[in-house]
Amino acid sequence: MRSPLVALPKTELHIHIEGSLEPEMMVALAQRNGIALPYDSVEAVRAAYQFENLQSFLDLYYAGAQVLQSEQDFYDLTWAYLQKCALQGVRHTEIFFDPQTHTDRGIAFEVVHSGITQALHDAKGELGVSSALILCFLRHLSAEAAMATLEQALPYRDSIIAVGLDSSELGHPPSKFQAVFDRARAEGFLTVAHAGEEGPPEYIWEALRLLQVSRIDHGVRSLEDPALVEYLVEHQIPLTVCPLSNIKLCVFDTMAQHNLKQLLELGLCVTINSDDPAYFGGYLAENFEAVESALGLLPEQLVQLAKNSFKASFLSPAEQQPYLQELTAYAASLA
Ligand code: ADE
Ligand code: ZN
Repeated sequence: MRSPLVALPKTELHIHIEGSLEPEMMVALAQRNGIALPYDSVEAVRAAYQFENLQSFLDLYYAGAQVLQSEQDFYDLTWAYLQKCALQGVRHTEIFFDPQTHTDRGIAFEVVHSGITQALHDAKGELGVSSALILCFLRHLSAEAAMATLEQALPYRDSIIAVGLDSSELGHPPSKFQAVFDRARAEGFLTVAHAGEEGPPEYIWEALRLLQVSRIDHGVRSLEDPALVEYLVEHQIPLTVCPLSNIKLCVFDTMAQHNLKQLLELGLCVTINSDDPAYFGGYLAENFEAVESALGLLPEQLVQLAKNSFKASFLSPAEQQPYLQELTAYAASLA
């Protein structure tokens, strides 16, 4: 039986919508769009998901995303994820999308944006799941390409709350994108960045100082730098930690070795997230279950993680209030 803690009201703050493409949908969309996949079954797709590091995953992830072609495809992808949210206590989600993965193969920004945002709109009404959208730049591509993508996004800025930075971390420090993030902030976007997943603590400092991020995505390597830990605690900069992802991409060998509990006990604003749930073996509830059992988290620590997820979100304090009340009431009913 599932722990009732899995149904805690919570938000998700680190989910790449392209990473929610389940093998079943990948195969169905390949058929719908007449695209040849290098796999002959859903089982073969799943069997290929053995990764040694971030790059070995990214290679398959970008190949898989090629089945996404039409507005309907992006709608279906996003809707399937939002239905999962509704089943797992996720009241609010802040979704990453990678426009360059699509525009670089000739899919219009408008097609991607429209399919995703229509599903987000429908989910608010039909599923009671609210959302925000975060545009991520692919850091293995140039700063000029990121700037051009930012310019493409300007007509849609009312529906995009923040910009972020993802893809291959090593060799692509945040400093490479300082001018793009300066411009994004001047245009009114909030900022986040992946840092300290595979990269060193210095990349986290750069994301904070040069990109002025509101949250660090991953950030698990911050423990290597005591001054950084002190800064993150003092300023309560949230870390969007992704436990199942970290195991699948060999950031830690086993879940029992994950540093999430340590980070939490040091007073960091840690949150739990799924990253790329279709590739890493689980959505948000499965991530909560995995850390609960492997790290022996106490019920109050799981409640703290859910609380942190609302506090770390881009919801205003007034918008957070009813969710936090619901969370407190739910936690009390379990005690
Ligand atoms: N894109 C999708 N998932 C990612 C991750 N875990 N790190 C960097 N880029 C990503
Ligand atoms: Zn990520």
